[in-house]
Amino acid sequence: MTIILGIESSCDETAAALVSGDRRILSHRLAGQEAAHRPFGGVVPEIAARAHVEALEPLVAAALDEAGLDLADVDAIAATAGPGLIGGVMVGLVTAKALAMAADKPLIAVNHLEGHALSPRLADPDLQFPYLLLLVSGGHCQLLLVEDVGRYRRLATTIDDAAGEAFDKTAKLLGLGFPGGPAVERAAAGGDPRAVPLPRPLVGSAEPHFSFAGLKSAVLRARDAGIHAPQDIAASFQQAVVDCLIDRTRRAIARAPGATALVVAGGVAANGAIRTALQALAADHDLPFSAPPLWLCTDNAAMIAWAGAERFAAGLTDPLDVAARPRWPLDPDAEKVRGAGVKA
Ligand code: KG4
Ligand code: ZN
Repeated sequence: MTIILGIESSCDETAAALVSGDRRILSHRLAGQEAAHRPFGGVVPEIAARAHVEALEPLVAAALDEAGLDLADVDAIAATAGPGLIGGVMVGLVTAKALAMAADKPLIAVNHLEGHALSPRLADPDLQFPYLLLLVSGGHCQLLLVEDVGRYRRLATTIDDAAGEAFDKTAKLLGLGFPGGPAVERAAAGGDPRAVPLPRPLVGSAEPHFSFAGLKSAVLRARDAGIHAPQDIAASFQQAVVDCLIDRTRRAIARAPGATALVVAGGVAANGAIRTALQALAADHDLPFSAPPLWLCTDNAAMIAWAGAERFAAGLTDPLDVAARPRWPLDPDAEKVRGAGVKA
């Protein structure tokens, strides 16, 4: 059975994992950098790159050790080659290249977004192509028709902020801490989602695109008004995001009649309210619903190893001089969307 070593270093998690072609996670190791970035209230690229350099080699050794394997037992080495913070991406990719060269193994350059997009198939053996994917992370908010490994049709994207970015900024505005998503979810649990009237940007519009910038400004105004408890603002914000995601995804379902399932992935997919609402939406449309376990939603190396396993099975490997890419859209043919030019 194929065994793939996966490496992830595109943002603020350094991670290494070993995954088999029959969906066994032989080991996965992760070193977060929250403490290093917390004083700045967000990820600092220079600090991230340096932390990846320090953490990665011991993590790879620990992952191999935990699986009881040697580099010689591995069939290929997969690493995130973008999109992401380029310093960190280069650390992971260069390490993977060195290991591939030393052990004479094929290299697989994985698009981080493809890691998220295929992660539900690692957890769910019944999930078949094509499926409709809501990919919600710190840098992206897209609806994609996942047709096959390496074949993605983008149906919608955000015209300004990503969903995770909106959670992170809201957490910062409300003084809830970093990382923002889990902090907002915790605060929201103690608040009233109907307490604060907030906008639902683009809800009802014909194209299934997203927008969250106006929501963030409304959160700022609600905070400055000084009337509402932070928990109520957090709960109302989370409800607004849920309403936007559901309305936009419903619109995309109508445009993806061949989809066999509704799937969510990416860090924001760890949010309980979002998962519950999407599950109900899927049930409304008689679609199976699939979402990876929470740890597989946020950045990790098992999803990179799994994307590597899927690519390896399809005969897709890369030359050792493959370049790291700060931007790397999953669907290169997707139409440019006004206002969305800054996101990959
Ligand atoms: O996929 P990910 O780990 O990294 C990127 O590729 O961006 O996603 C990170 C994002 C962050 O914005 C974080 O605040 C958000 O996912 N996130 C959440 C939750 N857990 C993580 N957002 C809402 N609720 C959560 N429970
Ligand atoms: Zn990610």
